[in-house]
Amino acid sequence: MDSSDGRRLSVSLVDVQPGHDAEFLAIATHFEALVIRKEYGRAEMIRDEGHTHRFYAVRYWTDATAAERCHRDAEVQAITAKLYQIARVTHVVNGVHSNETMRLLLDDRRARIEADRRTGFDRRIEDRGRTEGERRGRGRRLGPRRVRDRSGEVDLIGAARRAREHADAAFSHFKVGAALETGDGAVITGCNIENATYGLTICAERVAMFKAISEGHRVFTRIAIVADTEAPTPPCGACRQILWEFGGNLEIQLANLVEEKGRHHLKNLLPLPFDARLL
Ligand code: THU
Repeated sequence: MDSSDGRRLSVSLVDVQPGHDAEFLAIATHFEALVIRKEYGRAEMIRDEGHTHRFYAVRYWTDATAAERCHRDAEVQAITAKLYQIARVTHVVNGVHSNETMRLLLDDRRARIEADRRTGFDRRIEDRGRTEGERRGRGRRLGPRRVRDRSGEVDLIGAARRAREHADAAFSHFKVGAALETGDGAVITGCNIENATYGLTICAERVAMFKAISEGHRVFTRIAIVADTEAPTPPCGACRQILWEFGGNLEIQLANLVEEKGRHHLKNLLPLPFDARLL
């Protein structure tokens, strides 16, 4: 394994459902062997001594692209799917491990947000039984808004609603927000941006996707799209094409400001697609 400075490191918090420990350890062992066999790097599972069912999954990647290749690997995806059935996985750190300083250099926007939320090793102080919104005064947390709800699920629609608030729709007055979830659980948002020539307008979905690509993300799972309409707002044709080429058969969640309006898979919204396979 490459021992040079700047190796990439990922850490996830894994909360295993009680009664599934043996199954989980078998999955972890299988994953550890796979990561070595395919030369992605090395993985280890550290049990949290303070919580019976909690583990820290640490992955040391061989190089900057290894994490990405590993996430795309079908064999890895099959193992991960099994893991998700028996455990809740919270991605805590995507960073660079520097041998010299033993510091974690967080190079990922989401990783910085997570650190600010005091997830992971620096856990939140005891739950007081009230939500952030209800908390006032000294107990109230400052910092970025939550992307995950209490169950650890990513609130993608909530993120899209908040992104919509930034829409610049001076001409159509039709504001749209989008939130794209990446393979490693990060959420990248977008809103529509219009301009005086009209034709250079860019939709919320493409803003989200291009932001994500420009930040190095290549694997995507879902996108939420929000508009303030009774009927759902599905992605336009241009966005379907871009989402398909960069995100594949994404799950698409459509919602308005109060409720979810439907879920689709992109392949059903874009039958007979044109893409790089046909070139
Ligand atoms: N728009 C989006 O951002 N996403 C969609 O899915 C549909 C349309 C934007 C483009 C334009 O700024 C406005 O909505 C009206 O078409």
